[in-house]
Amino acid sequence: MSYLTDKLRAPYRQAEGELTVPGQMLDEIVAANPARRTLLKNSVGMSLLSVFGVTSLAACGGSGAEAPAGDGGDGGGGTTPPPAGPDYSVTFKPLPGKTVADTVTVPEGYVAEVLYSAGDKCVAGSVGYAGVAQSFPATETQAGGQHDGMHFYPLDGVDQNKGGLLVLNHENVDAATLNLGVEATRTNLSNVGVSVIEIARADNGTWSVKQGSRYNKRYSGNTVYNVGGPAASAVGRTVVGTLNNCASGNTPWGTYLTCEETTNNYWDTTQDAKGYGWVVEIDPYEPSSTAVKRTAMGRFSHENTAYMVDDNNRVAFYMGDDSTPGCIYKFVPTKAYDPAKRANNMGLLDEGTLYAARFNDDGSGNWVELTVGKNNLTAGATDPGNYTQVATGEVIKGTLVDFNTQADVLIDTQKAARVAGATLMDRPEWITVGVDNTVYCTLTNNGSRRRTSASNPRASNPHGHIIRWNEANDSPLATTFTWDLLLLAGQDKEDGAAANVTGDIKGDEFSCPDGIRVDPKGRLWVQTDMGDTNPNNSYVKTFGNNSMYYVDQETGESKRFLVGPLGCEITGIAYTPDLTTFFINIQHPDKTWNTVRSGGGDARSATVVVRRKDGKPVGA
Ligand code: FEO
Ligand code: CA
Ligand code: CA
Repeated sequence: MSYLTDKLRAPYRQAEGELTVPGQMLDEIVAANPARRTLLKNSVGMSLLSVFGVTSLAACGGSGAEAPAGDGGDGGGGTTPPPAGPDYSVTFKPLPGKTVADTVTVPEGYVAEVLYSAGDKCVAGSVGYAGVAQSFPATETQAGGQHDGMHFYPLDGVDQNKGGLLVLNHENVDAATLNLGVEATRTNLSNVGVSVIEIARADNGTWSVKQGSRYNKRYSGNTVYNVGGPAASAVGRTVVGTLNNCASGNTPWGTYLTCEETTNNYWDTTQDAKGYGWVVEIDPYEPSSTAVKRTAMGRFSHENTAYMVDDNNRVAFYMGDDSTPGCIYKFVPTKAYDPAKRANNMGLLDEGTLYAARFNDDGSGNWVELTVGKNNLTAGATDPGNYTQVATGEVIKGTLVDFNTQADVLIDTQKAARVAGATLMDRPEWITVGVDNTVYCTLTNNGSRRRTSASNPRASNPHGHIIRWNEANDSPLATTFTWDLLLLAGQDKEDGAAANVTGDIKGDEFSCPDGIRVDPKGRLWVQTDMGDTNPNNSYVKTFGNNSMYYVDQETGESKRFLVGPLGCEITGIAYTPDLTTFFINIQHPDKTWNTVRSGGGDARSATVVVRRKDGKPVGA
C-alpha cells in the first residue's frame, strides 16, 4: 500500500493484531547508527540481457464479441517459438543513481507523456478537474486518485497497438483535488475504485483518451457490487463500494481483477467490514455489467493477481497479502476455463480451492489447502498470530478462532493461513508469472521482523527482497514447488553498511520492490515504493526518487529505466502487445510535477505513456 493508505489503515491494522515495532523505516535505523548512511555508487557496467523470447499470447476473449485475442498479460505457459520480428534485447542506457528531479526521467531516446490524471474526464459528460477542488457527484464520473494496477485490453476492429481499453485502479484519493465541504464521504469514495478508458494512438505516437467512448466507465466506492462464492451469504448478496484498489490482474477470458488492499471501509465506517478485502471481477468489454466480489479467492489485504494456465486450460491465480507480515496465496478454480465460449467463464472464480504457501528452509515448498476441516481449520483452532514480529523465545499468546464453515475460512483468511502453517512473509506485494512459468513475488520490506526464515532472511528488512518459485512439473495444479531468492534489495556490499541494509543486486541498487511484471518477451520489470519519499528522507538520499528497473532473471543484474518525480511511488505496468508503448502510473507526486493550479499544491497522480521516439519496442 502507499504510505498514505498505510496511515489511514493504521488503527485498523493494530486492532487486527498486526505487530510493528520501531525500526521499520530506514530513517530510524540511520538515526540509531549514522555510520550506516553510506552513499550509493552509480554503478553501471552490466551485461546485456538474456531475453527468454517465448511469446505467450493467450486468447483473452474466445467467443466474446468484443474480447479479441491479444496480450494474455500476466500469464505464463507459452511454448511457441517467437516469430521473427523486432529485437527485444534490452539495450537502453541506464539512468544515474540518486536522481531527484521533479519530473519523470527516462533514458535517452525515450519520452514520457501524461495520458490520464486524477480528475480528468472519464465518463461521457464529465466536467474534468481544472484547478478548483470538486465534490460528488462531479467526481464520480472523472478519474479517481492514486493510480495503481493497470491492464491494456485490445478491441475488436482496432489495431491493438494503436488503440484499446486501459483499465486502472485508484488506490486512494488525490486529496488536493477534492472539496470535502460537500458530501465528504461520497466525495472521498468517488475518488477510489477503477477507471475504464478507451485510448487511441495518433500517427505521431502520442496517446489520448477517446472522449465519449461507450466503454469509459468508473467503478467507485459508491458503486454497488454483487458478491459471489462461498462467503456470499455471510457477506450479503451486494456490497456498496470498493476501495483501496491497489494492484490488479487479468484473466485468460479477458476480465479485470481489481484487488482490495483493505479489510475495512475506512471512508465509510457504517459499512460492514466483511464487505471489503476481496478480489473484484470487472468485465471491461460490457459497461452495463455489474462487477462481482469473488469471495472464493479469500479476504485479506490483496495486492495483485497473476495467473498460470496449462495445456488443459486449468488456471491458478497467485496473490499476495500486503500485511506486516502476510502470506502468499494461490486460488485454483475447480473447472477449466472455456476459450471457446467466454460467457462460460463468468462464474469460474466462485468455485475452487484456496491455498497458502509454506516456504520450507530447504528450498522446497508446499501449498497448504485452506478448506474447512483440513489443516486444523476447525472449530476451536488456535491462531498463532504474527509470531515473526517478536524475538525468539518471546511468547505470543495464541487466540482461539472457530472455522465452522468455508465462509469462516474465507472471511478470516489471514488467520486461516497462520493456523494451517503457511509462512509469514515480508509484505508480499506484486506477483508475476514469467513466460517460462517461473513465478516471482516482491517482498517489499519488514523492518520489524524479529524471527527469520530462509525465505525471509533479514531480522530487520527495510529494503525487501524478491522470491521466485517453480511449481512441480510447471503445473498450476501443483501442491509442491521449489523456491529461491532472486535478489536482496538494498545498498551495495562495498558500501560497508550493516547486513540488514546491504543487498546483493548487481548494477543499479534499489529499495522496496513493489510492482513487478514479466512482459510477453520474458523481460522482468520492477518498480519501487519506499514510502514517504520527501527529499530529506534517507531512502531518497541513498537511492533517489522511486524508480523502475529492468532486472536480468538469470544474473540479478539491474538497470534503472525510469525515475519518478518527487514524492511519488512508481506502480502499474501495462503495454501494447508489440511493447512499443508502456503505460506506467505515477502515484501521489507531491511537488510541482503535473499541477494545474498556478500556485501549485495539486500535483496529480497520473498514467504516463513511455515510448521510444523511433517507435521501436520499449527496452530496446
Ligand atoms: Fe497498494 Fe501494497 O501497495
Ligand atoms: Ca507498497
Ligand atoms: Ca503496491
